[in-house]
Amino acid sequence: MTDYLDHIGTGIILDNADAFNFDFVPPALVGREQLQRELASKFITIAQPEGSGRVVLTGPVGSGKTVLIRRFCEDVQRKFADQRPIRSAHINCRNASTSMQVVQRIVHTLDPGHPDRGLSIGELLNSIRKLLDRTSSHLIVVLDEVDHVLRRSGDELLYHLLRIDEDQRRNGSVSLILISQEQVLDFLEPAVISRLGQSNHIRVAPYTVDELEEIALQRAEIGLVEGTWDFDVIRLIAEKAGPSGDARRVIEYLNAAVERCEFRQDGVTPPYLTIQDVHDSSEFIAYNVSTKMDHVDDLSGHAMMTLLAICRRLKKSPTMTMGDVSSLYHLICEEYEQKPKSHTTMWKYVKHLEHTQIVVSTISTVEDGRGRTTHLTMPHFLPADIASRLEMLIPKRLR
Ligand SMILES: Nc1ncnc2c1ncn2[C@@H]1O[C@H](COP(=O)(O)OP(=O)(O)OP(=O)(O)O)[C@@H](O)[C@H]1O
Ligand SMILES: [Mg+2]
Repeated sequence: MTDYLDHIGTGIILDNADAFNFDFVPPALVGREQLQRELASKFITIAQPEGSGRVVLTGPVGSGKTVLIRRFCEDVQRKFADQRPIRSAHINCRNASTSMQVVQRIVHTLDPGHPDRGLSIGELLNSIRKLLDRTSSHLIVVLDEVDHVLRRSGDELLYHLLRIDEDQRRNGSVSLILISQEQVLDFLEPAVISRLGQSNHIRVAPYTVDELEEIALQRAEIGLVEGTWDFDVIRLIAEKAGPSGDARRVIEYLNAAVERCEFRQDGVTPPYLTIQDVHDSSEFIAYNVSTKMDHVDDLSGHAMMTLLAICRRLKKSPTMTMGDVSSLYHLICEEYEQKPKSHTTMWKYVKHLEHTQIVVSTISTVEDGRGRTTHLTMPHFLPADIASRLEMLIPKRLR
């Protein structure tokens, strides 16, 4: 009766579902070495008895801010375990958006059973001090999505955290890391900014397609059964997520493709991630498809034949070269009994298709380093759908 649940928790191509969980912190980050070095440079004294650091990290959605800091906190604690006990409290201020909730969470991270009812913020800060004193520990406080607390409670808590050691016997008890998509420095009082240090602002850029490809590749290696996927499909997924620069999106697309692939497994089809698995009919795509379909309908007859050449190849293969386009275009001209246009004109059609985002092109250097090849893909559409539409439209257009 419950046979239909058999695949839950296991998979034919899925090996480790954790790899697709957004909270999963991979053992190493990919493509962020320079940023990691910049971050480390702000914590140059952290292994010393009274050292601490301060950083404000800003960048767009899915640019890896949270995972960068989670990885950093774990790495630093492990690396300097023999020199200094370091702890961290990573608070997401979307869920704890008042100063009171934030301090309560910091206290609970240090001492889960600590009573907080009826205690003021000042008393709770005192508790933090004592808890750190007792174990001679250093605490890295991470306030993630800090703009939420700044909007609701202002920056007074930051001010208190930054001066937690004033009039105390100790120094450097707390490091502070603020994370936000927004330019949070604009929300802060000059007194807080000067304590944080203007030069401690690190800006994170959105990911490039190549970096997204590396991230997807890492998740495929961790999460999927070996031999069930290939690099071309990963590249296609990266290109599909490319315009967003968002790592979460590339992981989501990979996960969705894996789900679709698992869903169609029937013991007969080869267990292999295909381009069809990458394309879906989500709302986002559907919206784009209807507007982009207008571009298809407006093309001239020969531009349509060029696109048909592309679609026919991309139905079977994730990528193709300009040489492939040219030879298939000539075949299609024969099929419709048309004289082919010059290579330059065909090239212009392809540029136009690229401009309207129907196809995406990337240039790679050929192995011997002497030439460059253009590779075309169609990450946003199902080539078969466009091909059947074109086969309907072309005869009319050529009449
Ligand atoms: N360099 C990377 N290497 C491996 N995985 C990454 C990398 N960057 C981001 N990721 C993964 O992408 C997803 C999104 O990253 P993260 O949550 O850190 O983004 P963010 O910048 O904090 O986004 P938001 O602004 O929405 O909070 C996470 O699952 C994260 O593990
Ligand atoms: Mg985040």
